[in-house]
Amino acid sequence: MIPYGRQDITQQDIDSVIEVLQSDFITQGPKVPAFEEALATYCNTQHGIATNSATSALHIACIALGLKQGDHAWTTPITFVASANCILYCGAHIDFVDINPETYNLCPNALEEKLQKAKQDGCLPKVIIAVHLCGQSCDMKAIYKLSQEYGFKIIEDASHAIGGSYEGKPIGNCQYSDITIFSFHPVKIITTAEGGIALTNSLELKERMVRYRSHGITTNQEIMETRTDEEIWNYQQIDIGFNYRMTDLQAALGLSQLERLDEYINIRHDIANKYQQLLDKTPIILPKQKTNTRSSFHLYPIRIRQSLCGKDQKQIYNKLREASIGVNLHYIPVYLQPYYEKFGFKRGYCPNAEAYFREAISIPMYPTLAEDQQRTIVNELHKALR
Ligand SMILES: Cc1ncc(COP(=O)(O)O)c(C=O)c1O
Repeated sequence: MIPYGRQDITQQDIDSVIEVLQSDFITQGPKVPAFEEALATYCNTQHGIATNSATSALHIACIALGLKQGDHAWTTPITFVASANCILYCGAHIDFVDINPETYNLCPNALEEKLQKAKQDGCLPKVIIAVHLCGQSCDMKAIYKLSQEYGFKIIEDASHAIGGSYEGKPIGNCQYSDITIFSFHPVKIITTAEGGIALTNSLELKERMVRYRSHGITTNQEIMETRTDEEIWNYQQIDIGFNYRMTDLQAALGLSQLERLDEYINIRHDIANKYQQLLDKTPIILPKQKTNTRSSFHLYPIRIRQSLCGKDQKQIYNKLREASIGVNLHYIPVYLQPYYEKFGFKRGYCPNAEAYFREAISIPMYPTLAEDQQRTIVNELHKALR
């Protein structure tokens, strides 16, 4: 089976991890801060807080922004469930904003409409989570402008988008957001096995996220409570937090992978260009790219519209799977998941998202995808369409 995505592990990666295994620190040693600094430097951001997953980074980002029971927070329905679950972890009310039919990202016009209504109803969101689907940035300027008008905070869920850029600047620089999250799961652009990071330009948010990442504990004397002189207090728990820490083993892998990030993005662009050439004459809809963004091409979703192809998504999906092409669907609108339906969401809630869901198929995209494999994928797709 040719998978839709997979990691690339080199001898240098293996050596980096072994070096940590043979060192004094395998968990909280020098590699985690080095990885945080390297990523913050790469993205031109002030602070990085590495975590054991993007899911936990999203969670501590929401708490750091003050999201709590009774608040409202919104995201896109076309995302992995983690972008929405973090809102529920905080006890907040969740809602979804429909997508733009061309970029498949959260649509600023739909957002504006929803904000106007929420203002009248007195239930404006405290936080918006904008997901850069497949690696292409959302229209962050438009979302930021709305945040100024309606007073919400912004988290960029850039789990798909490390190495991409927006308006010529690296995704993750937080110019138009409070916090940006990356994921380092193996199907992503670079990996730490499991792992994630939160990036921010705010020292206050950084300090909060560092605390929430590790049990709510601080070693900062300035915010510790005063205790009697004879007692030694070199740390205090001042909040309730979690164990969401990344290990040095993971960070060493991440540091080694980071060296190849730009190369990986270039190869992903080569693969995307090749798909574009080879599928140009086929009646399927290929992903469109905005001129002010450079995607990291984490995913390559094609759309099978029955009125154009004479076949539906399921038929093509099954044919490709039978031909050992590991195609996948990214994603089922989150509010149609059984758990979310319990909140009263119904089919038809976000029409653009549902139209995308009925047509999208992610075809393989990863840096070690060989040219002959790509030809096989395209040939099998042509056959399936016939
Ligand atoms: C958009 C998005 N957000 C969050 C996550 C969660 O990432 P992790 O597996 O690192 O927790 C994923 C993972 O697939 C994702 O695709």
